[in-house]
Amino acid sequence: MGAEAPIGIFDSGIGGLSVLKYIHACLPNEQLLYFADSGFAPYGGRPEEEIVARSLAIAEFLMQYGTKALVVACNTATAAAIRAIRERYPTLPVVGVEPGLKPAAALTKTGTVGVMATKGTLASTKFNLLREQITAASNVVFIPQPCIGLADQVEKGELHSATTATLVRGYVAPLIEQGADTLVLGCTHYPFVQPLIEEVIAHVTSRPITIVDTGEPVARQLVRLLTEKKLLRLEGSGTMSGFTTGSQSALQTAFAKLLGLHPPVMQIATSA
Ligand code: SIN
Repeated sequence: MGAEAPIGIFDSGIGGLSVLKYIHACLPNEQLLYFADSGFAPYGGRPEEEIVARSLAIAEFLMQYGTKALVVACNTATAAAIRAIRERYPTLPVVGVEPGLKPAAALTKTGTVGVMATKGTLASTKFNLLREQITAASNVVFIPQPCIGLADQVEKGELHSATTATLVRGYVAPLIEQGADTLVLGCTHYPFVQPLIEEVIAHVTSRPITIVDTGEPVARQLVRLLTEKKLLRLEGSGTMSGFTTGSQSALQTAFAKLLGLHPPVMQIATSA
């Protein structure tokens, strides 16, 4: 596998497009394969073993294309399955997304950070160990906010609906009221409802609130790894293809609406 090989990126659904956007911008010559497991989304409430099994099946699917690096563009899958993926493919560069607790701890002035994520991410050992370490070292308090149903609203394309607005209000307002001045978007679906999050913030407080999204740092980490391993594709035009276990037209619409892109999309069997 060399620099010409593609990069595989996957998410439980369309949330990972918020990460793909940065990867595409940072690596315009690369061949990008995006896999949306929309037939199984959301992952947030599923048992860990099931998320590990789905993630390994998707990794195997993407590896058939000779993938040179894998990006787990899903916080819940990263928390549950990145270790299993790295064990299965020990020489493959694998990048995951983690809630940006470290940058948030460096940014907060009140010492209180709200973490919006799925139940699965917030219950994971990975998240809780990191949270305890940072709190012990810095006294920063993290308030975990499970955002049940929010990733699903994004999956349905309801970025501005009344139901989504009510959910966002119910999750964001209590965090601000408890003194959070920094909000971590701990799920790759949430950047797509950032305008609603900002509306709620403006309604609840006049204090400045910082929102931390991890799409860009993930893209930078991928560039670092590919550079280190001399796997960067430095010439030629980039390409993009989509795969989904859900509806082909739903992923096409998501690409067009969320990224303004029109790559070919293939629907594949749910057994991946
Ligand atoms: C979900 O599928 O429930 C959300 C995905 C994520 O955690 O990024």
